[in-house]
Amino acid sequence: MKLAIHCQSTELRDQAQNLGLKFGIPFDQSGHLNADFVLTLTESGIELVDKKHPELSGLSISPNEGRLGYRLKQNDFDLLLRAMGTPGEVIDGTAGLGRDAFVLSHKGYRVSAIEQNPALALMLEYVQRHLPTENQFVAVTCADIHQIVTDMPIGERLYLDPMFKPPNRKSLPKKDIQILERLVADDPQTDFSEVLKLARTRFHRIVVKRHIKQEPLAKDVSISFKGIAIRFDVYLKA
Ligand SMILES: C[S@@+](CC[C@H](N)C(=O)[O-])C[C@H]1O[C@@H](n2cnc3c(N)ncnc32)[C@H](O)[C@@H]1O
Repeated sequence: MKLAIHCQSTELRDQAQNLGLKFGIPFDQSGHLNADFVLTLTESGIELVDKKHPELSGLSISPNEGRLGYRLKQNDFDLLLRAMGTPGEVIDGTAGLGRDAFVLSHKGYRVSAIEQNPALALMLEYVQRHLPTENQFVAVTCADIHQIVTDMPIGERLYLDPMFKPPNRKSLPKKDIQILERLVADDPQTDFSEVLKLARTRFHRIVVKRHIKQEPLAKDVSISFKGIAIRFDVYLKA
C-alpha cells in the first residue's frame, strides 16, 4: 500500500515531516504521490483516509476520556486486565489502533508498543504524545514482533492480539475495521504460534487474545479468561 502524510496547517508541517521520516512515510502536502492511504495531522489528532474508498469515513485513534471511559466499562477490557495481572511493564506486540494499549496505560501499565504497519505505528506515536505524561507509552516501535522477540531483554509480560476474521462473518465489519483490513492487506503474514514459541523463553507471562472459537496458539494454556466472543489465553513461564 502506498502511504503519505500531510498536515492541516503550516504550524504542523515540521511535526508531520519528522513523523514521516521516523516511520518511512513520505510527506506529500500537494497529493502528487497519489497514495492509497493518506494520514492527515490536525491540532486535535490524526486521521487515516482510504483514498480508494472515500465513502468510508477516516480512521482515527482516540484515547480521549469519553471513549476510554466507555471502553473501560466493557467486559472485554475487564477480562484483559484480569489476564494481564497486576500493573507493570508490558510489551504490546501487535498494538494496532492502540485500543488495548490505551486501556492498559490508563490502568498503570508501562506499555511499549510494537506495530509492523508504519501508518498505524505513526498514528499511535502521535496520539500517545498527547496523553498525560504518566499514561504515555515507553516507546512506539515499527517492527515485526517475530523478527525482534528474541532480541528483546527478558521481560515481564507480552501481549499479542493477532488479527482474525470471525468465523461465519455474514455482514461487513465496522467501517474502521474495513479500513484497517485494507491497510494491512499487503503486510507480511506472521506465524504467531512461532512468535509464542520464541517468546516463551523470554517472558514470564504472555497473554494472547483469540476469537472464542479459535484454537489456542499452543495447547498448554495456563489459564483462559473467556468472554462471549473472545478469550484471553495466558501462558505462564514454567
Ligand atoms: C487485531 S490488531 C490489534 C488491535 C489492538 N490490540 C488494539 O487494541 O487496537 C492486530 C495488529 O497486529 C499487527 N501485526 C500483525 N503482524 C504483526 C507483526 N508480525 N509484528 C507486529 N505487528 C503485527 C497488525 O498490523 C494489526 O495492526
